[in-house]
Amino acid sequence: MKPMQFTVNAHIAFDGDGTVNGMIASARVVAGSLLLTLTLPAGVAHEPLAGRYFLARCVEPTEWARSHDWTLSLRRPLFVAGWRPATVAAGAERWLLTSSQLEDVGVNWLAAQPVDMPINLVGPLGNGFALPSHTRQLAVVSEPARVAALLPLIHAMLDRGGRVVILLQAHNSIEPLLRDLLPLATEVHQEAPGADWRTRLQDALAWADVVATALPAGEMAGLLEAVRTARLRVERGLVHCLADARLVCGYGACLACLTPLANGRWTRACVHGPVFDLADLAVG
Ligand code: FES
Repeated sequence: MKPMQFTVNAHIAFDGDGTVNGMIASARVVAGSLLLTLTLPAGVAHEPLAGRYFLARCVEPTEWARSHDWTLSLRRPLFVAGWRPATVAAGAERWLLTSSQLEDVGVNWLAAQPVDMPINLVGPLGNGFALPSHTRQLAVVSEPARVAALLPLIHAMLDRGGRVVILLQAHNSIEPLLRDLLPLATEVHQEAPGADWRTRLQDALAWADVVATALPAGEMAGLLEAVRTARLRVERGLVHCLADARLVCGYGACLACLTPLANGRWTRACVHGPVFDLADLAVG
């Protein structure tokens, strides 16, 4: 359904071209990820949002720049890390968006913008995580820079009275700022890559009703092996993965996000993902 036309101020509004304009409330880097708090007009989305993303334009907010400055021509994906309705003012909402791609020049540009800087977005896009109604024990498998994209799922699980174990692959201990971001009611473990990580991973996979992952592509083969060890087979519906895909256009047009499937075909992660059942992915 098309959102209601609503203007909070000139920079927090739905645009006539289907995009939405918001303003930066804060930008900070935590554990290798950008956390961008934005004020957006109310009514951007109401459905579950974990794993869904916006595409942000990286350009000065002037008419001239929007029409002529293509220095950073591609929009950059920002995953939903949180959403608080009507917390700012009537007609406005606070959103927390995140990216783990700090080495990217566009994400760097976003990270350097000041408070109250207008940002133009498309979204939320894609298919995110869904928690089956039977789920009581959620295991989250990720790394510090990517775990914020799973925060909405973690909160949803805790809200329904379930248990959450978070397993992070990291060489160093978890930054206090990241620990503050993870709900106190969760059980958090951190392990460096190696035998201890594999043991922890197998334990989490054996314990969980549902597993949500946000891992680099290079870690997927190890995940698959651990699932086979812990559960003997890859059960459909058990492990849901946020694909490490390059999200560029968000509409299935550019093919930058092509993702191989277990049936030998390819799919476009931007529209058919970016969250996939591990049983559907070609890994290795
Ligand atoms: S990002 Fe362009 S087709 Fe998926």
